[in-house]
Amino acid sequence: MELPFAESYKIKMVETIRRSTREERQQWIKEAKYNLFNLKSDQVFIDLITDSGTGAMSDKQWAAMMLGDESYAGARSYYTMKEAIKEILGFDYFLPTHQGRAAENVLFSTLIKEGDILPGNSHFDTTKGHIEFRKAVALDCTIDEASDTQLEIPFKGNVDPEKLEKVLQQYPAEKIPCVVLTVTNNTAGGQPVSMQNIRDVSALCRKYGVRLLVDSARFAENAYFIKTREAGYADKTIKEIVREMFSYADIMTMSSKKDAIVNMGGFVAFKEEALWQKAQMFCIMNEGFITYGGMSGRDMNALAQGLDEGTEFDYLETRIRQVAYLGSKLDEYGIAYQRPAGGHAIFVDAKKVLPNVPKEEFIAQTLGVELYLEAGIRGVEVGAILADRDPVTRENRYPALELFRLAIPRRAYTNNHMDVIAAALKNVYDRRDEITRGYRITKELPIMRHFTIELKKAER
Ligand SMILES: Cc1ncc(COP(=O)(O)O)c(C=O)c1O
Repeated sequence: MELPFAESYKIKMVETIRRSTREERQQWIKEAKYNLFNLKSDQVFIDLITDSGTGAMSDKQWAAMMLGDESYAGARSYYTMKEAIKEILGFDYFLPTHQGRAAENVLFSTLIKEGDILPGNSHFDTTKGHIEFRKAVALDCTIDEASDTQLEIPFKGNVDPEKLEKVLQQYPAEKIPCVVLTVTNNTAGGQPVSMQNIRDVSALCRKYGVRLLVDSARFAENAYFIKTREAGYADKTIKEIVREMFSYADIMTMSSKKDAIVNMGGFVAFKEEALWQKAQMFCIMNEGFITYGGMSGRDMNALAQGLDEGTEFDYLETRIRQVAYLGSKLDEYGIAYQRPAGGHAIFVDAKKVLPNVPKEEFIAQTLGVELYLEAGIRGVEVGAILADRDPVTRENRYPALELFRLAIPRRAYTNNHMDVIAAALKNVYDRRDEITRGYRITKELPIMRHFTIELKKAER
């Protein structure tokens, strides 16, 4: 008999989580103004709001924490992190930051001027926020296939090279501080970008004299998909694939809370010494001195160890198979999601699950509230609320897809939890004919409103 698959780790420490009643949840979500971010974590049974900073560190990472050097300048931990970044990712220069958006802040403060254009593949919301805040434009050049949730193609996160080339032809290089390639493509559903696409995008950048920035939060998951889906990579190690991916990049930003499996941390890395030097001022001003930036020594140690573990095949196989397992349960129940299952999350196609809620009443958000009421599960809306208003017209933007993201924390939940999530979604789906109204906004911020937005039930 063929042996079934099992996780490549065993559990050394546990954290208690608590079920609640529907009545309790009704009260809590009302108090939270129907914004899942406003719930207390104790009011949540299974927390899938993000895979960012929510993973379980390994015994080796915890051991590395104890060896942290907290010196203000020139700490050993800085050099440990520097070595890992050079060895695993191939970058000579870097600045530690407290998380990914801080890396974006340091980099974009250095690079962007008003009116600039930054093409890319579905820029992540903080990336878009940092670009638009500087009165520059984030132009989406993702392949059209990414918006058909039912289409199964191996690299649905790709940039459309024709779209990109048009942008590069239309604007002078001085107006394009960099192309932003996000791997995996979070917003399009945790979908990977192929090595061929990375190569093609890099070649276009070279042709037009523009830098390539890789937003690398989930670079290792991307490498796993290249190994398992792209011809010519099956026999390469994840680390070899990662080195090739970054050989095409000029700059990388990383939210290390994802594929470096730490609770907090990030960095921006450069191949060019001059750009690194220019960025130092913004690191010192906003984060901290250049050898710690926004991080403590112990966190830099854990990050370095996490980069090594996160680029091991067995770990990645366990991780990505768990996400695929949840996808297979949803298949059983006929629940549509962005196919194939992504690296870090399942993105449920909310328009298909709740076909009777009007888009003006925020379909994916409505699904999120229903799933919370059903079983205390918290995910996140990736739809019209996240899309913010158009910076010029101030009208709501309605993206083609209304997705509800169930992000799976690394090494934190078991497949029994995945079974509960799938069953709860099925129960909501079975009630879809009764769910006809969503929510209206009562309070919002001008940028990245989803974190703090307040809502009320739409009235009949
Ligand atoms: C692709 C991508 N880029 C950037 C970020 C921002 O990172 P952080 O949350 O660490 O600020 C995220 C976070 O989710 C992300 O997914």
